[in-house]
Amino acid sequence: MTGSDVAIHLLFLAAATCFVLGLHLMNSPATARRGNQLSAVGMTGAVATTVGLMVRNGVITTAGLLVLVTGAALGSGLGLSWARGVKMTAIPQLVSVFNAAGGGAAALVAFADAVRLGGAAGLVHAAGQTTVATGLDVVVGSVTFSGSLVAAGKLQGLVTGGPVVFRGARLLNVVLAAVAVSGVALIIAGRGGTIVLGLVALAALGFGVTMVLPIGGADMPVVISLLNAFTGMAVAIAGFVLDTSVLIIAGALVGASGTILTVLMAEAMNRSIIGIMVGGFGTGESTGDLVGPASGTGTTAPVHRISVDDAAIQLAYASKVIIVPGYGLAAARAQYEVVALATLLEQHGIDVCYAIHPVAGRMPGHMNVLLAEAHVPYPQMKELGEVNPEFVQTDVALVIGANDVTNPAARRSGNPLSGMPILDVDQARSVIVIKRSMGHGYAGVDNELYTDPKTGMLFNDAKAGLAALTAAVGMLVH
Ligand code: TAP
Repeated sequence: MTGSDVAIHLLFLAAATCFVLGLHLMNSPATARRGNQLSAVGMTGAVATTVGLMVRNGVITTAGLLVLVTGAALGSGLGLSWARGVKMTAIPQLVSVFNAAGGGAAALVAFADAVRLGGAAGLVHAAGQTTVATGLDVVVGSVTFSGSLVAAGKLQGLVTGGPVVFRGARLLNVVLAAVAVSGVALIIAGRGGTIVLGLVALAALGFGVTMVLPIGGADMPVVISLLNAFTGMAVAIAGFVLDTSVLIIAGALVGASGTILTVLMAEAMNRSIIGIMVGGFGTGESTGDLVGPASGTGTTAPVHRISVDDAAIQLAYASKVIIVPGYGLAAARAQYEVVALATLLEQHGIDVCYAIHPVAGRMPGHMNVLLAEAHVPYPQMKELGEVNPEFVQTDVALVIGANDVTNPAARRSGNPLSGMPILDVDQARSVIVIKRSMGHGYAGVDNELYTDPKTGMLFNDAKAGLAALTAAVGMLVH
């Protein structure tokens, strides 16, 4: 091994160390930003070292280098401007598009490598030891690419957010999976060329679409996290195809952390991961020929509308208040207003905490990030399991822009929320809900909490409603 070989290995080791330490720092919201920066430094170092290695080994021409640098500059510029401009509530769509880019790139790398080694019409087995990795990478990368694009479309509202199930969907899934697996088997047996690999890619692309289409409503968080794990897996396999250790490490870290997150999300949602992959969920009710969001309970029970002053009186005379933030709070960017109200109540001797549902909002940790931005102390944010027993001793549960995560319909079978653990808001002595209308949440189900006799509906935008409420409580307590 020459001196420059040692230097290159040490640089890759340094990059991998940055990834691991960066991931570790992401364990806490307080250090997560530093973790992201450290991982980015590691990735920049890994890319620069790889390019340097290619130049040193003469495996890239000047024209190739120009294409590489131009592509990297364009991609980085686009990524940077999207990431800077994106609203926090639209981050899941952006993450899905990034997942699609990662998966698609990994599949293309494997395809290009097969063509390079086997010739355009040649057998992929010319690639020898990389046939398993090549086949797997094309499958996982293609599924991730198409599945992530459909997921992004659903989150952005370009594709219906509800489950799309058509007759024969499951059979189609099985056929597509069988075509992909048989194609990979042919390639491994040395009988498949690039045409077979192309068919494998097409089947896997189709499978990605039919895998994500039947998933809808409250189940989307699990599928986004699963596709994120797939992206990592595809990148790690691409590392085997190209024999690049740093790619294997980076991909394995993303794949492993994405898998852990998927398992945690699935547990939180009471869903089965296998159920997701074969289309439709084990405990959800996305069966039958359903197109578009499932209808709600169609309740016609009366709604108790309250004024800002009514709500202020309830809050000012409470001993314990639990604040339940949801997507609407994030959409209104009302985190500072909610903290102002909570601070006022606390100054008045009222016990206040925040109930955080694992899938409240539109991305994992959405509410934690939002509230941390407004400097809510972490111990005041209580997770579902910790806070649920507290609702029975709570005078007022103040629900702000949260819907699905509070819907008692989840405790019954027969609707898209069935089986999902919810915040037991309806156990509180009284409930105040701030939202703009009787409109549905993400899952498209009527919320029975809103017609519960102990619930008062304060119809307003979260930001304006909270500001008015804080002013009214201030008049009462000062
Ligand atoms: P949702 O059930 O989506 O309900 C949000 C509510 O906020 C809506 O009913 C809406 O009612 C209200 N709202 C919107 N803008 C508002 C504003 N400016 N002011 C006040 N209210 C406003 O939210 P949730 O309870 O947080 O549940 C999250 C849902 O998203 C779950 O179904 C979850 O599975 C899904 N999801 C989550 C994630 C992750 S990882 N967290 C990712 C994808 C999907 P009005 O229109 O009447 O105001």
